[in-house]
Amino acid sequence: MIVVFGSLNMDLVMTVPTLPKPGETVLCPGYQLKPGGKGNNQAIAAARAGAPVAMAGCVGPDAFGSGLIENLVRNGVDTTGVHVAEEATGCAMICVDKAGENFISVASGANLTASAARVPDEALGSGTTVLMQMEVPAEENWALIRRAHGLGARTVLNVAPAADVPTEILKLVDILIVNEHEAAEIAARLELTSISEMGLARDLARTCGVTCVVTLGGAGALMAEPGGALWTAAALKISPVDTTGAGDAFCGILTAALDAGMSPEDALHRASVGAAIACLGLGAQESLPTAEAIDARLADVSAPLRL
Ligand code: RIB
Ligand code: NA
Repeated sequence: MIVVFGSLNMDLVMTVPTLPKPGETVLCPGYQLKPGGKGNNQAIAAARAGAPVAMAGCVGPDAFGSGLIENLVRNGVDTTGVHVAEEATGCAMICVDKAGENFISVASGANLTASAARVPDEALGSGTTVLMQMEVPAEENWALIRRAHGLGARTVLNVAPAADVPTEILKLVDILIVNEHEAAEIAARLELTSISEMGLARDLARTCGVTCVVTLGGAGALMAEPGGALWTAAALKISPVDTTGAGDAFCGILTAALDAGMSPEDALHRASVGAAIACLGLGAQESLPTAEAIDARLADVSAPLRL
């Protein structure tokens, strides 16, 4: 069973001819409202991939909030842990260009009131994997990681957006998922001097005793296990429509595979393939694949290679 503790946003998506530069105005014909937020996206990604998922976080007492809860329910996610706070539901402004590149700014709203204390002990036992990101107050994540670690749950931390993670917390986390920029920030703070992403992943895994996964967008992903095993995974070749939420798809699918008892390298394979499929539709959730859709494309990319 997976518990996702994290953010829920309504995404206001504009498809623009080019991403605006500072001070520039770019016109487009319309916009769409789409469910988003890294926590919410990861919960839906894991549920589509076949895992039993419960979401914990906060929305506001408004139409965006009720829409997000309905969307979770439609996707089979348990929403008992989604609290309705007084603040407005989080909202993200997203511009996507023709190449599928984006920029995003987020008004956190109710996400800032997300509380680890609302996740009951019973949800943090040894059969649970807790999945977190950095769009809720960091201290709440750290509190949940400490408790989950103590109660025997597996913890997966996606350090997105990039944030400073105390070394003590890195050591409690089982699986760390970062992109190349987030990896570099953590490594710099730990004074790890490796220049390659592979070196960074290996050093993080060794120093902190975590499985460290580094996503590299179209270039695939890397994984370093604390015992020293190193893996590279290729990405599925696609023409992206919208890369928003690709990282979330990766995290949700990887966690679903681990929760189902698959090996880390099989989970890496599925996450790499599924994250690419997720880029084929507009919005963070529209094209999130089912387990069958992932199965159907697995053979199109070679299995992760052990170095
Ligand atoms: O990772 C993508 C998500 O980041 C979007 O859905 C948006 O809400 C922001 O939180
Ligand atoms: Na997408």
